[in-house]
Amino acid sequence: MTDRRTIIRSVGAYLPAQVMTNDDLSKIVDTTDEWIQQRTGIKQRHIAAEGENTSDLAAAAARKAMENAGITIADIDLIIVATTTPDMTFPATAAVVQQKLGMHHGAAFDIQAVCSGFVYAVATADSYLKNGLGKRALVIGAETASRLLDWTDRTTCVLFGDGAGAVVMEMGKPGEDRGVLATALRSDGQHWNKLYVDGGVSSTRTVGHVRMEGKEVFKHAVGMITDVVYKVLDDTGNTIADLDWFVPHQANKRIIDGAGVKLGLPPEKVVVTVDRHANTSAASVPLALNTAVADGRIKRGDLVMIEAMGGGFTWGASLIRW
Ligand code: UT7
Repeated sequence: MTDRRTIIRSVGAYLPAQVMTNDDLSKIVDTTDEWIQQRTGIKQRHIAAEGENTSDLAAAAARKAMENAGITIADIDLIIVATTTPDMTFPATAAVVQQKLGMHHGAAFDIQAVCSGFVYAVATADSYLKNGLGKRALVIGAETASRLLDWTDRTTCVLFGDGAGAVVMEMGKPGEDRGVLATALRSDGQHWNKLYVDGGVSSTRTVGHVRMEGKEVFKHAVGMITDVVYKVLDDTGNTIADLDWFVPHQANKRIIDGAGVKLGLPPEKVVVTVDRHANTSAASVPLALNTAVADGRIKRGDLVMIEAMGGGFTWGASLIRW
């Protein structure tokens, strides 16, 4: 083991210009602003423009993250994009992002762990950099989830939105008291058919639409989230009271509140963006991180827990000294 940790040097984000409110949605499907807000906490979501692809959102977030770090693409040698909505079946969206950023060196690949994708990508970059395979990574969560929705299905189309968030990760200095302290990743494929897309290259040769047993997902979510949160706290000798910020996957305010109550977290330590962004899948955690860094809540030295849970099921958490 090295005494050097990977640190998160900067964050950036991008949201498409078009905002769709709950009232806008009520003109398309049989729903109301009241129902959506009561059951999910969502007030609005951003929707990518025609011709605006996941790689465009990802590249825009990456540019912001590099600008905030004061570096250029020449300083990056790894791009990981966590996404469930790739521009194309192949190549990896990360390769398209690499082209858009003008990078001809290093490596680029995608990670597919649905809503947990960003946590999986942080863990992957952490291991990759610690093992000396690269020096500095762009870790991006980016989605055009709106393209996977059945806009006649009110049980799913009200829940999701588009967006991207990115972080720059690099090795810290020896002995530096910050960085990724511990990560726990989990999956249990027996649950795949509770939250999935009913199309795919090998099965139907179509893209498909999101299908979900909402109540089943809800039932498992809080327990899975708290399980990995306690695991990384135990692994690092920390307790809930030590946390400065809890940055959860933004799927549903009731799930976030349920996890917060079970963990005994004061609500003011929980970063919530689901009201403005809806569920942006792999983009939700870096978008929330960007919000709380930009408004001055998350500061250098803070202890930050990120977590996510989604299709697969997959779930995970990472404890980061900012
Ligand atoms: O990253 C993980 C991604 N997914 C999730 O986190 C989803 C987890 N699940 C949930 O968030 C919730 O289960 C939902 C928000 C999806 C649904 O909330 P719920 O409290 O579990 O509602 P429900 O499915 O039990 O539906 C209650 C009622 C039903 O009507 P009846 O059968 O009681 O007459 C639904 O048909 O609400 C109806 N309903 C709607 N009504 C207005 C379902 N969707 C809508 C809608 N507008 N959009």
